[in-house]
Formats: sequence, structure tokens, C-alpha cells
Amino acid sequence: MGTDLKGKVAIVTGASRGIGKALASTAASLGINLVIGARNEGPLKETAEEIAKKFKVQVLPVACDVTKLEDLENLVKSAKEKFGTVDILINNAGVSSQYPFQEQPIEDFERLAHTNYLGYVRLIRLLINDMIKNKSGSIINMVSGSTLCDPLPRNFIVYSSLKVGLRAFSKGLFWELRDHGIKVTSILPGVTDTDLTGKLNEITSDTSRLMSTQAIEDAVRFALTVPANVCPLEISVINQQTPWTAPVIPFKQHHPGK
Ligand SMILES: NC(=O)c1ccc[n+]([C@@H]2O[C@H](COP(=O)([O-])OP(=O)(O)OC[C@H]3O[C@@H](n4cnc5c(N)ncnc54)[C@H](OP(=O)(O)O)[C@@H]3O)[C@@H](O)[C@H]2O)c1
Repeated sequence: MGTDLKGKVAIVTGASRGIGKALASTAASLGINLVIGARNEGPLKETAEEIAKKFKVQVLPVACDVTKLEDLENLVKSAKEKFGTVDILINNAGVSSQYPFQEQPIEDFERLAHTNYLGYVRLIRLLINDMIKNKSGSIINMVSGSTLCDPLPRNFIVYSSLKVGLRAFSKGLFWELRDHGIKVTSILPGVTDTDLTGKLNEITSDTSRLMSTQAIEDAVRFALTVPANVCPLEISVINQQTPWTAPVIPFKQHHPGK
């Protein structure tokens, strides 16, 4: 895909709030028409109206639970009925949960797996043959900075291991699809100020460690606007001071001579 994105069409999942809403706005600011999905119709419609008014693009809200195959099929069908084609997928809908493994409810595993992994893979599968036919397309998968940690952050091992799987899938897909002119990019955000992190314990007690969505918006704008023959494979946008990323960037670095 080239750098002029005006009039292109993007699906953004989990777009009613948080990172997804910010990324839908970023895409709209580039002149991209949108199909946005989330489960709760009220906030989704409000977001659609807000973005359409602000950026003067067309925004179609489609209530969609990414854990349900029929909802994903309806999302794609609605997008094609309205716009004819889908050029860009921003796969973003996600849920988190924080438990010591032995206390994590059994049903939580299925919810996390269906939302954070299977929903992503299924939606790509539903769109990919059209992108291959068009010899063009861009897929952005919202992974997580926690996948950079080894071992994974305590109390998030099911969430993070599914994101590790998504990251591996995304990288493999990049190689499979590059000869078809399709770009696949993983975004690895650090801890970001959204409702998702607001529900977690001890993560947001020091708010100076939280990122705003702006850095993620900038990363996605970069991924979408690089020249046609360039594809950022992965972009990590992580907080300098998040304890989780300590194995990558030690919070207290000991410099020689100090
Ligand atoms: N915030 C962070 O620190 C952080 C860090 C790394 C990665 N991430 C990833 O970034 C993505 C967005 O996170 P966020 O912080 O923006 O979360 P958020 O503020 O909680 O927003 C989540 C969005 O996803 C939608 N959603 C949730 N479950 C869904 C489902 N089953 N089907 C369709 N839509 C669903 C929500 O709307 P409804 O509830 O109405 O469905 C909402 O629009 C997630 O994949 C998350 O794992 C976040």
C-alpha cells in the first residue's frame, strides 16, 4: 500500500475506547474511512459520530463480539456491503486479567484466548483472500510489551503467553504475505493509560509510569505511511520506567563509574 491513504477503508476492533479509539482517530486523520467494532453498541455509536464529525470521514459502527465467529463474519460482510473492500485491519480488541495462576477462574482462559488470540487470527483469515486478490493490504496486530519480558510478568502469564503466541503468528504471517504485497505489523505497547490498566492492581499506583495513547498512535501512523516497499515488522513502544520491562531496560541502570 502506498502513502496516500485518503479514501482507503480500515476495520478497527475494540474501537469504542482506549487504544482502539485513539487508533481509529489516527486512521481517520489520514482520510481513511472506518468500520469500527466493539460489543457495546452505545459507546461504539458515540465514537463513530465523534470521529466522523471531527475528521470528515465515513465511519460505520458494527456491534461485534470478536469471540464469536458469526459476529466477525457479519463485521466483514457489513464492511464490504458499505465500502466494497477492506484495505487495512487494525486488530486491537483485547481483555486483560490479573491473577496468580492457581486462583484464575477456569472460564477466564477461554475468554482471554478467544478475545486476544483466536479473534485476531479468525478476522485475518476472513479478510486475507480479498487482500491477496487486491495484491495490497495492511494488518496491524496489537500485541503487548509484556511479550518482551522473560519470564512473563507475574499474575499475567495467561494473558501474556497468548500475546506471545499472537506475536509469533504475526511474524510468521509477515513472511507468508509479503510476496502478496501485504504488510503485517505487530505493535508492542507498554503500560498505557486506558480502562484496561485502570482495573489492574499496583500497575497504575504511580501514574508517571503510564504512557498516553499518543505514542501508540504515532507508531501506527508510521506503520501505515511508510513507503510501499517498507514494512515495520514490530514496533515496541514501552515505558522507560515500567517495572515489567526491567529484564529489557532495567529500571535502575547501573552505569560504569557510578
Ligand atoms: N492498556 C495497556 O496498557 C495495553 C498494553 C499492551 C497491550 N494492550 C492491548 O491493547 C488493546 C487495547 O487495550 P485497551 O487498553 O485500549 O483496552 P480498553 O480500554 O479496555 O478497550 C478495549 C476495547 O476492546 C473492546 N472489546 C473488549 N472485548 C471485546 C470483544 N470480545 N469483542 C469486541 N470488542 C471487545 C472494548 O469494547 P466493549 O467492552 O464494548 O466490547 C473496547 O472498545 C488490547 O488488545 C490490549 O491487550 C494494552
